[in-house]
Amino acid sequence: MLILGIESSCDETAASVARNYTEILSNVVASQVDEHKQYGGVVPEIASRRHCENILWVVQKVLDDAGVTLSDLDGIAVTAYPGLIGALLIGVNFAKGLALAAEKPLIPVHHLAGHIASNYIAHPDLKPPYLCLVVSGGHSHLVEVMSYTSFRILGRARDDAAGECFDKCARAMGYPYPGGIHLDKASKTGNPQAFSLPKPKIAGNPYDFSFSGLKTAVINLLHHAQQKGEEICREDLAASVQTTIADILTTHTIRAAREHGYTTIAIAGGVSANSGVRSTLQSACDKNGYTLYMPPLSLCGDNGAMIACAGSYAFDAGIRADAALNASATMKLTDWERIGKDTTAIL
Ligand code: KG4
Ligand code: ZN
Repeated sequence: MLILGIESSCDETAASVARNYTEILSNVVASQVDEHKQYGGVVPEIASRRHCENILWVVQKVLDDAGVTLSDLDGIAVTAYPGLIGALLIGVNFAKGLALAAEKPLIPVHHLAGHIASNYIAHPDLKPPYLCLVVSGGHSHLVEVMSYTSFRILGRARDDAAGECFDKCARAMGYPYPGGIHLDKASKTGNPQAFSLPKPKIAGNPYDFSFSGLKTAVINLLHHAQQKGEEICREDLAASVQTTIADILTTHTIRAAREHGYTTIAIAGGVSANSGVRSTLQSACDKNGYTLYMPPLSLCGDNGAMIACAGSYAFDAGIRADAALNASATMKLTDWERIGKDTTAIL
């Protein structure tokens, strides 16, 4: 089976060709990070315009790199939700046109299902059911992966996502966008015990996440130091923030695994590249006798390979769209399979 995957939900125009679900024949990512950096974050209209300019050559290149033509494909998968609506619409409309012209099935893919699938590419032995911590710039979800296309959400971010917290803390500390990776690098030489930062207590669902209090505490700490003319060691603060986020994510994940009987755990999404999150979760899994799957760093961020892989499983499950496919900025992961099998559903 040959599936083309197209991703344009945020600031990466990406595409890939997957053979038999997990074999990645080609993978191209055109990143816009350098352009958005000067504004301190993604500017949605600029993102849409760059996707418009890049999508044709990116898709042409993955087909050429894979040595295939449109007629060789079994289907065209595209991220249709969630994400920046203007950005999503570029990929969705491009994929629609391609599917119509090539007379190939169109497969709408949920972006988070794509992140989850990044682990299948690197670890073909990983099979549902298992527990997956999905942590990106826009989402923090604890997901029960019931099958390749069906999911249950145990916990979610009530306010800022983990990646958003990394980025906002890093920005307050003076690091460029996207700050998560800079904070990660800085923390390598910092003392993680230097600052005691708050861990939220959440009423109700114990698996839910809240990171806005941590972000506010970091911003307040920096303001107070500035007002008093005190120097703050950025590396120490970076290490303290990273350790706090890694501890929160790990504690929730291990608790959910224990209480729901999972011994196989995975992590996915941009934040799964964080060295502190990876090592803290790995140690906790080792201590509890759980097996942990993590994507390679190259597949943690947004990419087309994860969409091609998720699209392959979705193709098998009968998830399809016609020319009326619309993008959605907010679609829930748990609604994907149902809506994807109902081509009469108009979003
Ligand atoms: O999954 P992703 O590439 O895009 C979304 O779907 O949102 O995730 C991007 C997020 C950003 O917040 C970025 O700062 C964060 O992942 N990120 C990191 C690291 N690398 C990427 N956060 C912490 N440490 C990292 N090494
Ligand atoms: Zn993402």
